[in-house]
Amino acid sequence: MSVKQVDVVVVGAGAAGMMAAATAGQRGRSVLLLDHAAKLAEKIRISGGGRCNFTNLDARPECYLSENPHYVKSALARYTQHDFIKLVERYGLGYHEKTLGQLFCDDGSQAIIDMLKAEVDAGGAIWRMETAIEAVTAVEGGGFVVQTGKETWQCQSLIVASGGLSIPQIGATAWGYELARQFGLGIVPTTAALVPLTFQPQDLWTELAGVAIDPAEVRSGKGKFREAILFTHRGVSGPAILQISSYWQAGQPISINLLPDVDLQEHFANASREAHLVTVLAEVLPRSFATVLVNSLGPNAPLKQYTPKQLSVLIERIQHWQIIPSGTVGYKKAEVTRGGVDTRQLDSKTMMAKAVPGLFFIGEVVDVTGWLGGYNFQWAWSSGYAAGSFA
Ligand code: FDA
Repeated sequence: MSVKQVDVVVVGAGAAGMMAAATAGQRGRSVLLLDHAAKLAEKIRISGGGRCNFTNLDARPECYLSENPHYVKSALARYTQHDFIKLVERYGLGYHEKTLGQLFCDDGSQAIIDMLKAEVDAGGAIWRMETAIEAVTAVEGGGFVVQTGKETWQCQSLIVASGGLSIPQIGATAWGYELARQFGLGIVPTTAALVPLTFQPQDLWTELAGVAIDPAEVRSGKGKFREAILFTHRGVSGPAILQISSYWQAGQPISINLLPDVDLQEHFANASREAHLVTVLAEVLPRSFATVLVNSLGPNAPLKQYTPKQLSVLIERIQHWQIIPSGTVGYKKAEVTRGGVDTRQLDSKTMMAKAVPGLFFIGEVVDVTGWLGGYNFQWAWSSGYAAGSFA
C-alpha cells in the first residue's frame, strides 16, 4: 500500500477537530480530517436542544474544571468567544442570547456545522468520513504513520480531537485516551458530567417527578450554582443540578437551598395562623412539593399547631437540604466527560504533548470540562485554534 503524505492528520471531525483542520489548512498546511462516523458532527447537531449554544459571553478560565486550572488560560485568551461570534456574523448566521450569556443559533445547529465545514474546505483539507484508524506509529526522526482500513498516511503532526465518552450511541469512543496511553501520557480518571443525578429510594422522587423549582441554590465541593432544578422519576435534573454534577464526587452530599430568595421565618410570621401549612408553603413553593414535604413531617395542620422548633426544622430542610446522590444517569445522558488526557503533560500554548513532538490533544478528550452554557464549545474552538496554529 502506498503511503500518502500530509502535514497534519486530525482525528475527529467534531467541534474541535473541524476548527483545528480549518485553522491549519488556512495557514497553508496540508490536512487530512478523518472521522469514523457516517454523519458529520452529530454532537453539534443535537447540542443546545438542536440550536447549538455555541459560546458564552462570559467565558473565562474560572468556568472550567481541570486538575490543572491554569491550562485553559492561554488558548481562551488567544481565541475568545468574540472571535467565534465574529466568525458566526461573517457567515450571516442569526443568533440570540437566551440567558446568562448563552448564545444560541436562531435557525438550528446545522448552520454551525455548515459554517465549520465551509471553513475546513476553505483551508483545502482532505475529508475521510466513515474511516476508522487501525494503528498509529511514531516515525523515527519525527512524525507519525496513521493506518486506516484502506489507506496509510504519514504526517508531521497528529491532532487528536476524538471527544469524550458521552453519548456513545452517536460515536463517542475511548480511542483518544488509548492513543494517549500508547504514547505514555496519563489520563485523569473520567466520569460523566453535566448529567442528572439519581437518588435512592426512587419512590420518594416518583411523587415529585415533573416539579421544577426556579431558582434553587445548589452546592457541592467548590461548586455553587443558582438556577432551576427539576425532579425526575430517578432523582434531580435541571441546569443547577447538571452544573453541580461536574463538581460532585461519589459519596459526597449536595446541599440545596430550595428558596434562596425567601426569608421563611418572616413568611411564616406574616402568614395567617389558621392557614394550613401546605397552603402557606404553596405561596412560595410548588404545591405538590409543599405537600410531599409536609407529609414527610406528619399530617397537614393549621400553622398555629406547629411549634417554633418544628418550623425551624422545616426551614432547615428547605434551605439546607443535604442529600447524597446514589450516582448519575451515566454517559448515555451526560453532556460531557470530566477528566481525560492530563493537561500537565501538554503545552498550554500549542496543545502539544511536551514529551511527544507533533502530537496534539484538543477539545473534550483532554481534562478540561466547562460549565453548562456554551463553555464546552468555546473550549473546542479555542483549543482547536491553538493546535491548528502550531501543527
Ligand atoms: P466531539 O464529540 O464534538 O467530536 C468528536 C468526534 O470524534 C466525533 O465526530 C466522533 O465521531 C469522532 N471520533 C470518536 N472516536 C473516533 C475514532 N476512534 N476514530 C475516528 N473518529 C472518532 N456544549 C456547548 O458548549 N453547548 C451546547 O449547547 C452543548 N449541548 C450539548 C448537548 C448534548 C446532548 C451533548 C451530548 C453535548 C453538548 N455539549 C454542548 C457539549 C459539546 O457537544 C462537546 O463538549 C463538544 O462537542 C466537544 O467537542 P470535541 O470536538 O472535543 O468532540
